Amino acid sequence: MKKSKYIWYNGKFVLWDKATTHVLSHGLHYGSGIFEGIRAYSNKKDTYIFRLEDHYLRFFNSAKVALIKIPYSQKTLENATISLIKKNKLKDCYIRPLAFIGDGSIGINPANNKINVIIAAFKWGTYLGDEGVQKGIRAKISSFARMGVNSFMTKSKISGNYINSVFAKREALNAGYDEALMLDSDGYVSEGTGENIFIVRNNKIKTTPITTVLEGLTRDCVINIAKQNNIHVVEQKFTRDELYIADEVFLTGTAAEITPVREIDDRKIGNGLPGKITKLIQKSYKELVKGISEPKSKYLKKI
Ligand SMILES: Cc1ncc(COP(=O)(O)O)c(C=O)c1O
Repeated sequence: MKKSKYIWYNGKFVLWDKATTHVLSHGLHYGSGIFEGIRAYSNKKDTYIFRLEDHYLRFFNSAKVALIKIPYSQKTLENATISLIKKNKLKDCYIRPLAFIGDGSIGINPANNKINVIIAAFKWGTYLGDEGVQKGIRAKISSFARMGVNSFMTKSKISGNYINSVFAKREALNAGYDEALMLDSDGYVSEGTGENIFIVRNNKIKTTPITTVLEGLTRDCVINIAKQNNIHVVEQKFTRDELYIADEVFLTGTAAEITPVREIDDRKIGNGLPGKITKLIQKSYKELVKGISEPKSKYLKKI
C-alpha cells in the first residue's frame, strides 16, 4: 500500500496523517463498522471505477444489516470517491470506504454515538501478490470454521466479522501457505479470507451458493464471463476433497482479482499450473475492468 495525500473524512478532504479518531471509538472496541473494497483501473486513455454503484449499494445494505445510519446519501459518497481519486491524482487504485460508530457511550449499546464515514484511495497491488496471480498460490484449509450465519451476518461487510478471516489468514501464513480456505459450520467449502471460491472439473465450473458467503461482485462477473463463453456454471455446495481433485481452483475478489490456486493442503491442483479456464476468466476480467473489451459497460464509471 502506498500513502496518498488526502482521505475524505466526514465530508472534508483531510491530510492522510490527520485522518485520526478517538481511542474510545465504539467501532475500535467492538468492530461496529462496515466497509467496502473497490478498485479503479486505467487503460492507456481512460480511468474507470469498477462497479462503483454496486459497491455503494452493498455498503448501504451492510449498514442496514448492522443498524448503522449513514449520514450521507449514496450519490454523495459516489461523488466524493470520484473527487478523492482526482484530488490524489490516482489512476489504478484501491478504494476503501468505511463507516464506523464513534466515541461517546463505551457500553455495547452505541446509544447516539456519531457515525463517522471515511473514504481512502491508494495504490495497492493485488491481495495475493502478482506472482500468485501469474503462477497460482498455495492454500490451506483453515482450522477456523467460517462464522455461522446466525452469529455473523454474511451479507454484510461488518468490520467485526473479519476477525474470523484474520485468524484464518495468520494461521495459514504462519504455516507457510499463502491463503486460508474456510469450511462452513456444516463442513462444506465456504470462501477465502476475502475471496469467493470456484472449482473447475471436466470443463464445468462450480461455486459456493451465496446463501452463506458474501455476495461477491467479482463472483457475479465471473459467472457472467463463463456463461458468455458457454461454460456451464453451477452454484452448489462442495466438500474439501472435491477441491483436492478439481482440475482448476481459483479465488475471486476485488482485492485478489482472479487468483489461481495451485496447491491445497500439499496436494497439487491439476498439473500445478493455472488452468485454461482460469486463464480465460482472468483475461476477460482484466479486459472488462480496464475498459478494453466493453468501454461502454454499465459497470464502468469513467472519471
Ligand atoms: C469474505 C469475502 N468474500 C468474498 C469477497 C469478494 O467480494 P468482491 O468480489 O465483491 O470484492 C470479499 C471481498 O469483499 C470478502 O471480504
